[in-house]
Amino acid sequence: MTRPLRRSPAPFGASGKTVHAVCVRCGHSRPYAAAEPSCDCGGLLDPVYDLKAATVHEDETAPGARYFDLLPLRRPESVLHIGDGNTPCVHARALGARIGLDRLYLKDETGNATRTTKDRMAACVLAVFQELGVDEFVASSTGNSSSSFAWGLPFTRGLRAHLFAGRDFVDRHQYTDHPGVTLHVVDDDFVGAAKAGRAYADEHGLVFEGGFFNSARREGLKLAYLEAYDQMPEEPAVVVQAISSGMGVYGAHKGAREYLEMGRLRRMPRFVCVQQRSCAPMWNAAREGSDRILPHHVLRRPQGLAKAILRGDPTNTYPHMRAITTGTGGSFAAVSDAEMIDARRWLAQDEGIDVCFAAAAALAGAAQLAARGEIRREEPVLVNLTGGERNGTADD
Ligand SMILES: Cc1ncc(COP(=O)(O)O)c(C=O)c1O
Ligand SMILES: [Zn+2]
Repeated sequence: MTRPLRRSPAPFGASGKTVHAVCVRCGHSRPYAAAEPSCDCGGLLDPVYDLKAATVHEDETAPGARYFDLLPLRRPESVLHIGDGNTPCVHARALGARIGLDRLYLKDETGNATRTTKDRMAACVLAVFQELGVDEFVASSTGNSSSSFAWGLPFTRGLRAHLFAGRDFVDRHQYTDHPGVTLHVVDDDFVGAAKAGRAYADEHGLVFEGGFFNSARREGLKLAYLEAYDQMPEEPAVVVQAISSGMGVYGAHKGAREYLEMGRLRRMPRFVCVQQRSCAPMWNAAREGSDRILPHHVLRRPQGLAKAILRGDPTNTYPHMRAITTGTGGSFAAVSDAEMIDARRWLAQDEGIDVCFAAAAALAGAAQLAARGEIRREEPVLVNLTGGERNGTADD
């Protein structure tokens, strides 16, 4: 994992490649600096690359080196490999036959070092922070992202992290015994813990890493999809993921746009965002035709089997996810406990993959849409199995 990267720091010159952050709302462009997660107008900042010059460095082992041209890093030496990525993408024939999808492809992200796709986000965020000279930051999550940060810290040159956890999520935080980690427990749900983390960062003059609004997170998660698009023998017509904030799907969509422009994809897939019924604020807003989250969509201290996606208030990210689903002809879906339990069992029985309930929700969403005829049997479908069982529990 600490093996030197083979790639020569070619064609970008001594100062590295140029990355701009462009506001998706007002179009303002500035040099990339992840420590300022949004534009003055409040819009989201997306890194933009020279796609005419960009290539995929196929012979690189570290995903960060392979997709370096599509990451917000200036220098190849900045790439971190923390055991992230290089996960299989399988054509699931048996499971596909069961749910009526002949061309079902599963991106098995349980193969990441901490068993979730969030290792990709940590690898990218930590590398970007190091390159930008950030040495201490504050973050929060329902457990998986914070565990990935904690796991990744020993690969850095002494970065320190303050991880904020809601009380019900503390046991989902792992690797926190590293001396660079301070775990702050907040007597609230995950959204409350994130607010406490932001206040702590402001008070102590530290970088709040921003969650969804930190583009390095979205760009790191994007790599699961670039890998999958490269691994699949055909292009996906539909892409399905379980969502909390939606940063993974945001990355998937941005990656598809970049691959279209680079000629590596020929059509934009439909994106399907799956929630669990007990905590489905985006699905509820979407089926009411609302372009924003309204007070009656918000849940306090939500409960559900898929703990990783228990975000009761996605007010700030929903408009982005709605734009992606409507813009690609995709949709939101919500699945019941029974559907998630079945999906989890089928994945184990038919494909030998042990997933967490969030990943099971994604498969259940694909099965539901197939049953309703919203995905046709012959369409190639990519389902991201974002995480696996950890610590003997299925709910992380
Ligand atoms: C296993 C797993 N799947 C899916 C998600 C959804 O994340 P997001 O929608 O924020 O990309 C998470 C977030 O924590 C997760 O841990
Ligand atoms: Zn702006």
